[in-house]
Amino acid sequence: MSTVTTAMLREQFDAGLTTRTDFTIDQPVHAYGAVDHAVWQQLYERQAKLLPGRVCDAFLDGLDALDMDAHRVPEFARLNEKLAATTGWQIVAVPGLVPDDVFFNHLAERRFPATWWMRRPDQLDYLQEPDCFHDVFGHVPLLANPVFGDFMQAYGIAGQTAQKLDALPLLARLYWYTVEFGLMRHGDGLRIYGAGIVSSRGETEFSLSSGKPNRLAFDLARVMQTRYRIDTFQETYFVIDDFTQLFDAMRADLPALFAELAGAPGFAASDVTAADHCIALPA
Ligand SMILES: [Fe+2]
Repeated sequence: MSTVTTAMLREQFDAGLTTRTDFTIDQPVHAYGAVDHAVWQQLYERQAKLLPGRVCDAFLDGLDALDMDAHRVPEFARLNEKLAATTGWQIVAVPGLVPDDVFFNHLAERRFPATWWMRRPDQLDYLQEPDCFHDVFGHVPLLANPVFGDFMQAYGIAGQTAQKLDALPLLARLYWYTVEFGLMRHGDGLRIYGAGIVSSRGETEFSLSSGKPNRLAFDLARVMQTRYRIDTFQETYFVIDDFTQLFDAMRADLPALFAELAGAPGFAASDVTAADHCIALPA
C-alpha cells in the first residue's frame, strides 16, 4: 500500500503549475517523461486485453469513439475534440482530488476533472488517489455515452443539492457504488462499468468471478445507506439494468429521500438483508 499523501502529491506534482480558482490547470503535456508514457502503455495494454467480454459495450464504444492513445498519456485537448462531437463533455486537468463543491460544479457543467499526473511504475496495481490512468482510461470513455453523460451531469446537480442539505455522505455512496464500482446486467451475466474496477486488473477479475462479494440489484435508497471500504476489494457490488436506470434514479425527490435517510442506521459494506435482491453469478 502506498503511503503517499495528498500533501506530498501536491508538493511533488504541482510544482510550477498555475492552479485556477476552479482548481483547473493547463495539462502540462511537456512534463510527461518516458516513464509516464511507459506506465500508461503498460496499464492500457493490460486492461485492453482483459476487458473485452468483461466490460460493458458502452465503455469499448467510448474507447473507440475517443480513439484513445494506447502508447502515450493522452492530450486532453485531443480527447475533448472527440467528446465535443459526441456528448459535449470536456475533460479539465486538475492537480488531484478537488473540494466537493468544485467537483459538483464541474460535473453540473459537463466538465470532468481529471488528475494530470501518472502513477509510478511501482504503483501499477494499487494507488490511494486517482491518477491520470484511473481518471482518463477509467472514467472518460463512458462520458461519450449520451445516457451515462446525462446521468453524470444530473449527479453533479444533485451534489449541489446534497451539499446544501448536509447529505453528502449519502450521495457519495451513490458515486462509489455506481460510477466507481458499478456492475451491469448483460444477458444472463454481468459486465463492469465502474471506473475503479475498469482501471484495476485485480478488481476486474474479482468483481465478476469471485464468490466472496455480494451482488445486489440496484436500489437508490439501499445504495445511499451502504457504507463502503476503501482498503479492500468491494464486499458488495450493486448491479444496474442499464444506464437509463441510473439516470432515472436522479429524478427521485432527493431532498425527501435525504430527509428520510438522515436518521437511518445504514448498512455495513458486507450486510445482506431479506429485502435485498441478490444476483447469482451465471453457472
Ligand atoms: Fe474515480
